[in-house]
Amino acid sequence: MKHRSHCLALALLLGFSGSALARAADDHRDLRSYQEALRLKPDLENGRRLYINCVSCHGPEAWGQKNGTYPQIAGQLAGVIIKQLEDIRRGNRSNPIMRAFTSPRVLGGAQEIADVAGYVASLPMTPDNGRGRAKLIEQGRKIYMDKCKDCHGEQAQGDPVDLAPLLYDQHFLYLKRQFDHIRRGLRRNADRKMTKQIKDFEPEEERAVLSYVASLRPPPDKVAPAGWTNADFPGVVR
Ligand code: HEC
Ligand code: HEC
Repeated sequence: MKHRSHCLALALLLGFSGSALARAADDHRDLRSYQEALRLKPDLENGRRLYINCVSCHGPEAWGQKNGTYPQIAGQLAGVIIKQLEDIRRGNRSNPIMRAFTSPRVLGGAQEIADVAGYVASLPMTPDNGRGRAKLIEQGRKIYMDKCKDCHGEQAQGDPVDLAPLLYDQHFLYLKRQFDHIRRGLRRNADRKMTKQIKDFEPEEERAVLSYVASLRPPPDKVAPAGWTNADFPGVVR
């Protein structure tokens, strides 16, 4: 708050226009509105009940599709799921097909968002995600260590404080679409520092770093055994 009023005083002094001021304030992601849901204790049983609204696209296991149309959301950090749900609801992401499913009619308020996020976060991850190009993995590892590790973590395990998503085991084509969305500013409440970091990436570098990320395995206790199905949704056609 102090920092912001400082900025305001400075901007007025220098005679900045309103839009420059808005851009300055926008330099940091707005995380305030997510704080309420982040603080709540999730009711996993209610989260399971709410998740029925998500099954048709993300699937009963929440693994999405290997072709990246729908992301895997199982096992993602709960805080990241909360922030993304709120961003989709507010139209900060270009995701018109899902937006209706985040309306207050489906997810009432902060508690319900926390509940469904908690449930999804608790699900085991797919043993079989969509991969990139095997021969680019080594080149990608170097890029990752140089340009991504500080925020997304050594193992791509994400950061629950800064709400950087965990990236391992995600479908390659989904990673690619999001990387491009972030670079092109289509994720309007994404991380400006990341956007700057990747703005000059060549397509080859991008394919390499995302091939590496998609090849990373989660810790064994976060992965479902082969053939596992989610017993919470027995009647769903798979
Ligand atoms: C009609 C299909 C559809 C339904 C129903 C749906 N989603 Fe999605 N969801 C998507 C698509 C498509 C994306 C990826 C959008 C993009 O590419 O930007 C997505 C993205 C997400 C993301 C962001 C993942 C990430 O790491 O970027 C989360 C979290 C999510 N959905 C959770 C949910 C939850 C929870 C529900 C149920 C309340 C739900 N979705 C219902 C289609 C759907
Ligand atoms: C300054 C910190 C930072 C750096 C550096 C950074 N990221 Fe990110 N990244 C983030 C944050 C924070 C988000 C979540 C943005 C949001 O809230 O929508 C994100 C989101 C993503 C997403 C979308 C994932 C999803 O599930 O929606 C991908 C893919 C990604 N980053 C890949 C990378 C790669 C690859 C690099 C290195 C080339 C990188 N990032 C560097 C902070 C960073």
